[in-house]
Amino acid sequence: MGFTTILINKQFVDFKIDFDKFYRIFHLELFDDVRDDKEDKGDLYSLIKSFRAKTDYKRKNVDNFNLEGWMSTLREVKQPEEIVLMRKAIDITCLAHAEMIRALEPNSAEFEAQAVVEFMFKRQGAEYEGYNSIVGGGENSCILHYETNRKKLDGGDLLVVDAGAEYHGYTADVTRTIPVDGKFSGEEKAIYNIVLEAQEAGIKACKAGVEFRATHKAAVQVIQKRLLDLGIIKNSNDFMKYFFHGTSHYLGLDVHDAGNYGKLFPGNVITVEPGIYIPAGSDCDPKWWNIGVRIEDDILITTAEPEVLSGRLVKTVAEIEA
Ligand code: GLY
Ligand code: MN
Repeated sequence: MGFTTILINKQFVDFKIDFDKFYRIFHLELFDDVRDDKEDKGDLYSLIKSFRAKTDYKRKNVDNFNLEGWMSTLREVKQPEEIVLMRKAIDITCLAHAEMIRALEPNSAEFEAQAVVEFMFKRQGAEYEGYNSIVGGGENSCILHYETNRKKLDGGDLLVVDAGAEYHGYTADVTRTIPVDGKFSGEEKAIYNIVLEAQEAGIKACKAGVEFRATHKAAVQVIQKRLLDLGIIKNSNDFMKYFFHGTSHYLGLDVHDAGNYGKLFPGNVITVEPGIYIPAGSDCDPKWWNIGVRIEDDILITTAEPEVLSGRLVKTVAEIEA
């Protein structure tokens, strides 16, 4: 990459360097709240201390502002080599979800679904999970970032499975929602199809040159209208009670990858992941309670139509039931 010197942890602590010799020194914003491992002189705490001592914050040639933006700009547009690795991570993930959907039984536990997915990641050569797998059934389908995964499932539960393989540093991020007994109830199907319609609207908005938030706007419009139609909300702004997260984020080395959240560019890889979550006790007909649905795919922005990199994985009600 053209770097002439790279220093790793302890090497940096002991390295003598005259920062006055440089026209500019760029670094990322450093935060204080990291643990100090007294045994390890090369831990992050010591590195930050040593860096501060060496540069002295008040130096005129130190810039802790611009680098973050430049890194975001570089990381949000993936090179062809990066896209090869992302396709691999995403293919592994799709096969793992498909295997989990086949293996699920009415008396399974959340951790059994998690076990099948993560086994299939490893079996296909993924080194890690890209993030802690979220496997929530019934009431847990309504908890964002639920990671306990201990509940014994009930045949009537819906199960949200948000799990992505990490392959050579790049992570996938895919969510499917499955009826544990293989059949959606009428209410589950109604909510599922709203989320699916919102997701399709979001994916359609994935065009180079549009604002990043276009996917969210498109998904929100669908969810507002359909929840009003069903009488689950009375005012369109109340959609936020049931859809309380963003629709998209960048994906890459990190699951929520670096990026500027400005306009979409060819080579961006983003998620489109609307959801509706109706916990028990919500201000609507109890027949909707404990239904939580999220559908998430990984999208490559191109100069033409968006490519759904996770498009091989079953998604419609009929496909999942089959
Ligand atoms: N996959 C977890 C998230 O996107 O927050
Ligand atoms: Mn995500």
